[in-house]
Amino acid sequence: MSQELPSPDVMIDLIKVSKVYPPDVQALTDVSLTVRRGEIVFLTGMSGAGKSTLLRLLSRIEKADKGLVEVAGIDVTKLPQRQIHVLRRKVGMAYQDFKLLPERTVADNIAISMEVAYRAPVFIEKRTRELLDRLDLAKKYATPAEELSRGEQQRVSIARALANFPEILLADEPSGNLDPQTTALVMDLFHEHNRKGATIMIATHDRSLYQATSHRMIELRFGRLRTEPAEAADNGAPPGDTAAAGLTAVEEV
Ligand SMILES: Nc1ncnc2c1ncn2[C@@H]1O[C@H](COP(=O)(O)OP(=O)(O)OP(=O)(O)O)[C@@H](O)[C@H]1O
Ligand SMILES: [Mg+2]
Repeated sequence: MSQELPSPDVMIDLIKVSKVYPPDVQALTDVSLTVRRGEIVFLTGMSGAGKSTLLRLLSRIEKADKGLVEVAGIDVTKLPQRQIHVLRRKVGMAYQDFKLLPERTVADNIAISMEVAYRAPVFIEKRTRELLDRLDLAKKYATPAEELSRGEQQRVSIARALANFPEILLADEPSGNLDPQTTALVMDLFHEHNRKGATIMIATHDRSLYQATSHRMIELRFGRLRTEPAEAADNGAPPGDTAAAGLTAVEEV
């Protein structure tokens, strides 16, 4: 992956961000948050607290109404529509509702994120098979997405998010439909991706994902971050265990 300029150490920066869904659903209020390169951050909070909304603002599925949203050095709120591909190449997102193309095969769904980055077909096939293998889905390569169980669809959505080695991975309830054993496969992939330098934010209700880790956990309550902004910024697990400092791009296998 070519990278012209060294990326800044701060990979996600939100300053006083608010989001209202029309007509008057206040989904996020004054959220400030800094995530550094190589961190894994767990985003928790009750149903409706605003977790998915926050991830959607980072990937510009939705636009903030107020505040600054900076992702990998890109001012996301000011990014013109025609430049969104620049952001999408840096950010991989596994959606809570998967967003797969139902009639296309598993392989086609995963290939999409690599095709938009002009990856060679031989690379795409190798990477797709590797991810499916790791996620225990090798036999589903040519299966249409609509014939998959929800847990299988979830893993395909995760594979698609990871396929192009994104610098930032956003995973929305990645274990929502998975048993503990399959969840472990997913978390292994995430940790491996993180060790290569990626920054990861995971929205989850699943305490087992973060309970035994030293990674930062932040909580949204009714659209507000529970921690004070200063604490949130200072409280982070150092990116040291990722050995990521200084890397400018996620290293490929
Ligand atoms: N497209 C939308 N239009 C209007 N309101 C929305 C929309 N998406 C989300 N909301 C509302 O915004 C608030 C935050 O929703 P969000 O999906 O971000 O919560 P969440 O923390 O991800 O919840 P869950 O744990 O159930 O996934 C909720 O009150 C929700 O009803
Ligand atoms: Mg959600």
